Amino acid sequence: MNLPLGAEPGSRVQGGVQMCQAVSPCHANHRGELSAGQLLMWIDTTACLTAEKHAGVSCVTASVDDIRFQATARVGQVISIKAKVTRAFNTSMEVSVKVAVEDVFNNVQQRICEAFSTYVVKPVDGQKVKLKPVILQSAQDNLDYSLAAERRRIRLDHEDAFKNLLQDISMIKETANSKEKVVIATDCTHVESIELVLPPHGNHQGHTFGGQIMAWMEMAATISASRLCQAYPALQSVDMFKFRGPSTVGDRLVFNAIVNNTFQKSLEVGVRVEAYNCEEWTLGKGRHINSAFLIYGAVNDAGEGLTFPTIRATSKDGFRRYRGAIARRRIRLVRKYILSNKEENISSEPWDRSNQACLGYSNVATLTLLAANHGWELSSRADKIKMFTFEENDVLSIMVEMQAGVPSGNAFILLSDLRLRPRWDSHYLTCEPIDTSNEDDKIYHITCPSVHKDKSRDFVVLLSRRYPDKEGDPYIVAMKSVTLASVPPSAEFTRSEFPCAGFLINSEGKDACKVAYFNQLTADVLPYVAGNLGGWSKSVEETASSCIHFLETFETTCI
Ligand code: COA
Ligand code: ADP
Repeated sequence: MNLPLGAEPGSRVQGGVQMCQAVSPCHANHRGELSAGQLLMWIDTTACLTAEKHAGVSCVTASVDDIRFQATARVGQVISIKAKVTRAFNTSMEVSVKVAVEDVFNNVQQRICEAFSTYVVKPVDGQKVKLKPVILQSAQDNLDYSLAAERRRIRLDHEDAFKNLLQDISMIKETANSKEKVVIATDCTHVESIELVLPPHGNHQGHTFGGQIMAWMEMAATISASRLCQAYPALQSVDMFKFRGPSTVGDRLVFNAIVNNTFQKSLEVGVRVEAYNCEEWTLGKGRHINSAFLIYGAVNDAGEGLTFPTIRATSKDGFRRYRGAIARRRIRLVRKYILSNKEENISSEPWDRSNQACLGYSNVATLTLLAANHGWELSSRADKIKMFTFEENDVLSIMVEMQAGVPSGNAFILLSDLRLRPRWDSHYLTCEPIDTSNEDDKIYHITCPSVHKDKSRDFVVLLSRRYPDKEGDPYIVAMKSVTLASVPPSAEFTRSEFPCAGFLINSEGKDACKVAYFNQLTADVLPYVAGNLGGWSKSVEETASSCIHFLETFETTCI
């Protein structure tokens, strides 16, 4: 994606921090490309200064989410890094970082990567510091703010998601008995390296600078990868970095890296870092401060991607890591696929325990983004009801606005309980909860009547509900189709899907609210509203009116 300077959406940094760096030979590898370790250091510096600008006190890096490198920079080009705090939670805040490379000859910018880091405020006089909220100045700030809560869910759920998936793939057998010709033992890729943390490696607080640790980890990992590639590996992405505990100037950091698994054109290297102070060093008892997983590819002289040999783990730990790499790859793929918010990809994502936080995120994000579109056109109006349409890239969406004389919180409770929907919506025949283990993200099986004497349709839907983040924000009830192995399509119904639907509920005083219903129409849903759009039916208005009546008369205490 080539963008003229300053044309990148959301590139203005309001209250944020910017860094520009000219890439010199000292920042580059032997090929004249900016080293990934150096870039990670610049990212961490910019993000940390952004966090501290907001907090007004010292902060430490808690974690960095997955980063995918989309392009490289070369000596002579200029790196531009823009960071802003998207949201402050309690003692932690999320910082978004956008990195682009500028070509000095034509002023064209190219995106290198986007990263989300979390910083935690260091206690002051032993007391935790509660952060002030971020001042939101633009529509983009508001969007980043609400999606930050969803990214936090994914981040904090990461370990559980990994454990769940690891259980699910425990049946995967090692390749020791594989019939493949080239099977390489991983021992040859083991790298051990040590660094003494000197003052230049510390940050302004005397802690080892997070970016420096990431750069050293990247170096150990690159050496390990090169032993398997027998070529110069290129870093493609890094899995979530988590800083488990601090280290300080004077510590010895020991890095152990090894290739955990190969996947045709890419491989995963894991790195573990242990810190020792002088005393711990003599006792041989270190502190585990970080582990990271880095994904590399490599190309031959003709620029073609190399295919890596299958590997064989030689120990129990090696085999455990071999399977861990498969689990991480699946999680990464799902995160990349879902978080990219590509419309063609969002429907019918398989639901399982390992990706439920991601799916909740994409569900809420898709609805929020649909609602935020400008260009909704009023298509009809009735008492307390307005219907709008919006068309983009040949996809039509409808919004039905309803004024209800009921507190917004009550409307939220009623509309987020999908079991109640058949009471007011004749498009729903039945609605059975399937998985309700999580209060805010539930799966339902819905059956709908036939239209034009077709077979009846059925849907498997994830409903994600969210309370307002702050006063003035809406309650959110987002819905999208998912695939569930336990509810396969049956002969009785035509299995149907929709990518995005749901409600945004805004308070309008103590006893009134505005409910906006959204639906992004697919061929499966269109038959139910085609009459309205064509003007020969009033079923949407009738349903909206029935919804208002239901909200105003149903006692929430009946649930
Ligand atoms: N990713 C994102 N946020 C995280 C996190 C992670 N992996 N782990 C903890 N947090 C957040 C919590 O959600 C909580 O946020 P909130 O107060 O806004 O709700 C906050 O950190 C504190 O959580 P708590 O459980 O009290 O802290 P902890 O004991 O887990 O410590 C650190 C968290 C980051 C302070 C601690 O692990 C640490 O010191 N790590 C090393 C930091 C470092 O040295 N970085 C490199 C040099 S700057
Ligand atoms: P896990 O072993 O569960 O993956 P760790 O945090 O212990 O988690 O290690 C992270 C990664 O660091 C491992 O996956 C492996 O790639 C690498 N690693 C850890 N210990 C060693 C070691 N002793 N030798 C070589 N590599 C190691």
